[in-house]
Order: sequence, then C-alpha cells, then structure tokens
Amino acid sequence: SGDPSQKIDYVFKVVLIGDSAVGKSQILARFSRNEFSLDSKATIGVEFQTRTLVIQHKSVKAQIWDTAGQERYRAVTSAYYRGAVGAMLVYDITKRQTFDHIPRWLEELRSHADKNIVIILVGNKCDLENQREVPTEDAKEFAQKEGLFFLETSALEATNVETAFMTVLTEIF
Ligand code: GTP
Ligand code: MG
Repeated sequence: SGDPSQKIDYVFKVVLIGDSAVGKSQILARFSRNEFSLDSKATIGVEFQTRTLVIQHKSVKAQIWDTAGQERYRAVTSAYYRGAVGAMLVYDITKRQTFDHIPRWLEELRSHADKNIVIILVGNKCDLENQREVPTEDAKEFAQKEGLFFLETSALEATNVETAFMTVLTEIF
C-alpha cells in the first residue's frame, strides 16, 4: 500500500464523532499506523489520516477525519461532514454519559451528512470490562432501532478496530 504508483479506484471519506476522551484519535492511530498511546492529547480542530486497502479487487483510499469531542475545539460542522460517506459514532463503555449523548451526535450527523451515509456505533475501551457502565445489549438495541451497525472495540488491544472500519467501507462499496 506504500507504492505511490498504485492506482486508486475510490476515495471514501469517513468521519469520527463522539464525546471527548472516548478514544476517537486512538482508534484512528490504531487503524492508520497500528499505533496506540495512553497519553493521547485532546484533539484541537480537525485531523485526518489515510490508509489504502483492497476491497473486492479495487484499491480504496480511506480518508478518516477526526475532530475534537470538546465543543470549543471542534471543527466547522458543515465542512467536517461534507462528502462523508461513512461515520463512526464512538462512546466509551466505561462512561455511561458518553453513550447517553449518542442520540445528540446522531442528530447532528443526520442533519449535516448525506442521507445515505453508512453509520457504525462503536463502544470503545472494551478491554476495561471491569469498569463497564454500558451493557452491550443496551447499545445493540439502540443500534438496531436506529439502523446502525454496532461493534465494541479496544484501540489499546486492537480488538475489532479493523473490523469496524471494514464494516463501513465494505457497506459503502
Ligand atoms: P478528543 O480528541 O478530546 O475528542 O478525545 P478522543 O475521543 O480523541 O480520545 P483519545 O483517543 O485522545 O483517547 C482518550 C484517552 O483514552 C487516552 O488516554 C487514550 O489512551 C485512552 N484510550 C483510547 N482508546 C482506548 C482503549 O481502547 N482502551 C483504553 N483502556 N484506553 C483507551
Ligand atoms: Mg481526539
């Protein structure tokens, strides 16, 4: 995938959203560079990373956008969602409040993004099972009701991060 002469068949923009500190930037670091940091700084403004993958014999450049969960650091909302074909809605399974805010994030997403955008609900930090505050069943039920894909991930342990992105990218495709 590092070959600059490689022909790109598709570029797919995917946006990450959710409260501050749920792990959006570390999910992206894991997916794009297979890295993880415990002392991750809060994102200011907007950042993005790309990774090129082969899906059904086509090369797909995934362009993943990441912004701040904190209101005061957020990017301009309409620009952030413009052209996005996929979205990852992230909460922290150890912080109930981050799950309770999901309907708000979904509302923002639905009011700014394309109506055909593919959305996955992601419960991150599943390595912290002993601190869990959000039962898997609650999230599964919500996702079903709203027509979203759903997975629990751990950016730390690299659990389901690849699968979560592949679920979205394959469905877009
Ligand atoms: P903002 O940029 O402020 O919106 O936050 P964010 O959602 O990007 O969170 P970030 O990725 O910076 O992670 C916040 C903290 O959670 C950091 O200390 C990370 O190391 C930690 N973290 C992220 N993912 C995981 C995970 O899967 N497991 C554990 N145990 N910690 C994680
Ligand atoms: Mg961040």
